[in-house]
Amino acid sequence: MTENKIDETQQGADENKRRFLIKVSLVLSALSAFAVGIPVVSALLAPLLEKAPEVWRKVADLDDFAIGAVKLVTFKNADPEAWAGITAQSAAWLRRDSASMFTAFSANCTHLGCPVRWEEGAQLFMCPCHGGVYYKDGTVASGPPPKALVQYPVRINKQQIEIQTAPVPITTL
Ligand code: FES
Repeated sequence: MTENKIDETQQGADENKRRFLIKVSLVLSALSAFAVGIPVVSALLAPLLEKAPEVWRKVADLDDFAIGAVKLVTFKNADPEAWAGITAQSAAWLRRDSASMFTAFSANCTHLGCPVRWEEGAQLFMCPCHGGVYYKDGTVASGPPPKALVQYPVRINKQQIEIQTAPVPITTL
């Protein structure tokens, strides 16, 4: 009888020890997962929280543009990588609307990013890839583009025309 009681006491102690170890193991697992998870989650979320860089770039002299003229201008993108080389170059179609007003359209189609060209005779922007067509105000005339051409802010600074560059959003399928 006494031996049975000792066995029961021993079993109870073992059971308590096992529960304690399970709890310790669960807590340590949770801490490990937390420690590993923080850098992974940070790396995934960081790009979403970063503000896109915006930089004013000179693209032409004011005297180069007659009123009504539309020209392709090139400039370095807002956040070029050191190794980017020629791929850091971006382009826009710049139109002089009046003595002091300009409109700059991204040269990239809003469908899949192909470069659009300005057709002076038709007064349309045309995309060679899938037949996208835009009116002179950048809105979609026909084809697959889901929205109007992106416009850049333009300013005149000391007789020079500047474009505020920023990453251009392209539609993804
Ligand atoms: S990329 Fe311009 S229509 Fe498709």
